[in-house]
Amino acid sequence: MSDQYVLFEKREGIGYVTVNRPDKLNALNDRVMRELREVFTRIADDDEVKVVILTGAGEKAFIAGADIQELSVQTPVEGKARSQYGQDVLNLIERLGKPVIAAINGYALGGGCELAMACTLRIASENAKLGQPEVKLGIIPGYGGTQRLPRLVGKGRAMELILTGEMISAEEAHRIGLVNHVTSQEELMPTAEKIARQIMANAPLAVRFAMEAVHHGMEMPQDEAMPYEATLFGLCCTTEDMREGMRAFLEKRTARFQGK
Ligand code: COA
Repeated sequence: MSDQYVLFEKREGIGYVTVNRPDKLNALNDRVMRELREVFTRIADDDEVKVVILTGAGEKAFIAGADIQELSVQTPVEGKARSQYGQDVLNLIERLGKPVIAAINGYALGGGCELAMACTLRIASENAKLGQPEVKLGIIPGYGGTQRLPRLVGKGRAMELILTGEMISAEEAHRIGLVNHVTSQEELMPTAEKIARQIMANAPLAVRFAMEAVHHGMEMPQDEAMPYEATLFGLCCTTEDMREGMRAFLEKRTARFQGK
């Protein structure tokens, strides 16, 4: 068993990141957050990794939140710094430039749910439970949850989840749009890998610019987001991959994209 709290391996274009603290349900202590930052910083520069799958070790939890032991002794200044550090790590993941798929294999609570929301897509196994229970501890979500949750599921549903602190099932998370798919436990990784491969079959720069258009565009007024989209569309037209993609279609063959 590795003594790393965050494991990383890569196979056939997919980077696998696993939070590895199963005896504490993969709770995010300061060391896990540091290791997550290191791993994702490396992945950003690793051309061999096209798509990332993020999951938790063990059968019970994706991540059961920030480490309550550490939170219980923090001063206000430390609390603010911890929140900002966590926000920075999740922003790094959200803006990685490569799709990150959260494979939610159990509890995704508090910081675990927030981490999943910073990912590009979320797939949950049937046993998963999601929620933002912070108010039960006298705090509020501090890794971007008050902002990403309403953007994903709407203000009313986000308010209910954040104010009651109650957990919801994977099925309910799917119904409200918090996760994209629900699978059996056995099918979780194969499903994540299937989606990763579908994305990897497409033009890498187009995938990156599409993510940018959605991500940044959503934060702009529509009148500004439209020219932004048009500019990124124009940028795609400079790529060899665009010519290859169109040529392959016309020649009725599979495109061979190079990310150029
Ligand atoms: N921080 C620190 N430790 C945590 C943790 C967290 N967020 N979540 C779980 N753990 C630890 C438990 O303390 C326990 O450690 P121990 O064996 O040394 O006592 C171990 O993980 C197993 O958890 P346990 O509570 O015994 O499992 P359970 O199956 O009975 O309950 C949960 C699972 C997820 C319902 C429960 O662990 C829980 O409510 N966790 C906290 C969730 C939360 O509030 N997260 C938001 C934090 S801001």
